[in-house]
Amino acid sequence: MTGRPDDVVAQAARRRTFAVISHPDAGKSTLTEALALHAAAIEEAGAVHGKSGRRGVASDWMDIERSRGISITSSVLRFEYGGALLNLLDTPGHADFSEDTYRVLAAVDAAIMLLDSAKGLEAQTLKLFDVCRHRGVPVITFVNKWDRPGREPLELLDEVEQRIGLRPAPLNWPVGVAGDFRGLIDRASGAYTRFRRTPGGATRAIAERVPAGRAAAEEGEAWEAATEELGLLEAIGAELDMDAFGAGLCTPVLFGAALPNFGVEALLEAVRELAPAPSARADAEGARRPVDAPFSGQVFKVQAGMDRAHRDRLAFIRVCSGRFERGMALTHAPTRRPLATKYAQTVFGRDRSTLDTAYPGDVIGLPNASGLTVGDTLYVRTPVAFPPIPAFAPEHFAVVRATDNGRAKQFRRGIDQLDGEGVVQVLRSDLRGDQAPVLAAVGPLQFDVVTARMAEEFNAPVELTRLDYTTARVTDKESAEALNGRRGVEVLTRSLDGSLIAVFADKWRVRAVEREHPGLTLTPMLAAGVTD
Ligand code: G4P
Repeated sequence: MTGRPDDVVAQAARRRTFAVISHPDAGKSTLTEALALHAAAIEEAGAVHGKSGRRGVASDWMDIERSRGISITSSVLRFEYGGALLNLLDTPGHADFSEDTYRVLAAVDAAIMLLDSAKGLEAQTLKLFDVCRHRGVPVITFVNKWDRPGREPLELLDEVEQRIGLRPAPLNWPVGVAGDFRGLIDRASGAYTRFRRTPGGATRAIAERVPAGRAAAEEGEAWEAATEELGLLEAIGAELDMDAFGAGLCTPVLFGAALPNFGVEALLEAVRELAPAPSARADAEGARRPVDAPFSGQVFKVQAGMDRAHRDRLAFIRVCSGRFERGMALTHAPTRRPLATKYAQTVFGRDRSTLDTAYPGDVIGLPNASGLTVGDTLYVRTPVAFPPIPAFAPEHFAVVRATDNGRAKQFRRGIDQLDGEGVVQVLRSDLRGDQAPVLAAVGPLQFDVVTARMAEEFNAPVELTRLDYTTARVTDKESAEALNGRRGVEVLTRSLDGSLIAVFADKWRVRAVEREHPGLTLTPMLAAGVTD
């Protein structure tokens, strides 16, 4: 690495900021542990993440989280690997959706798409992939659980190409079918690494380099099959094209098994070698702010009450340019107000520690940063505002009411706060009144979070009544008049920005309205895989 240690360009160049996208149970927690373990950031797999029943539950900020054995909060893992500094942003991993997961993808430069070898592309992976595509985030694919019976590798590649239009370029190739995994051939060098499991699986597998001649004799038919398939890949030209990868058209694919730690090193290598380093970021006007411009960053997540030891409101900021130093006075772009950063933190699993400096690609946690909302830009000296992080199309709606009318003030304050954090979107109308706004969520788990936090944190218990709407469109005043009074449609105002949102019982009604009144404004929101 050239340059002084405080050289912003050199520091940015060695950073890789990425997230793992997957369907629940594909092995995201296991892979995260394996990556960190392998990079020696943690001493023992399981110490950082883990679900209930495993060692060390990192985030325990709410009872619902614990009782469901899920991790709602997200944090940042950081580890050095071969000269690179890897920032792995955890996306909340549960069967349900919340906007948080999507927002994390606004802060990364690359994503690992993790597939279960037996299942291939699954619903949540598809939705998250759509967000990556929308944001132009390049994707590296890791096919996991190769130690178990699964599908054919060629079939999985075909699925990726056919269903999401990403051209797969395998970097390595498995010897032995899923379930009888022998090792991996590195396509570029032809080197064969044979794996042997270690008892328990939680420690590093034994990896052994075996020369091709010996491997052919020892692996027999499995070797023959693998080399035949490699020939096939050669013939169809399944090579990695870096431009196409950067443009989101091509994905490098690696095979392995996170649990026994097969192929994890190759994945780390791919992240280091292929994932883009932080680079100039376009502002709202399209001008690009280079990484060595004065400090700028964007809030991608605001979270309150993350864990019992730190009951506060933490804003997560991705550094986009410049060097951050704790104590710096930042300007909050939307209000032009100064913001103190004396208590800047880094958030590693459950632990937080003071953060003194940060560079592009890093994540800063600012506690008690009231007034910061998701999408806000912070800067020093040269003003900048990055484009807002879009709200995602809600698919679940519920009316919220305080169970105790005497707590109207606390109710209002709590709902406003949760709205500002983006826990849910709050929609209102004159008809429904202020006492009974509509909450809109990407996934119903967000409602549980509201219920729990309103009771615990704001001392204003609420009850929710689910509404039958499933689809939302952004509309305008004129169109709203035409929509009002129709069955199965309602127009509401989003509290945060005053925009008009039309909610529909189902997408057929949207289509019917569009057919009847072709001139109406009914703009889909960032649908993240919603297929209407
Ligand atoms: P998630 O975060 O994506 O939801 O998945 P998680 O890592 O929790 O993994 C889901 C299950 O898959 C876990 O088993 C985990 O041990 C298993 N798993 C992950 N990677 C591999 C792999 O490479 N090979 C095999 N064979 N299994 C893998 P579980 O029984 O649900 O939990 P646990 O009791 O093992 O913790």
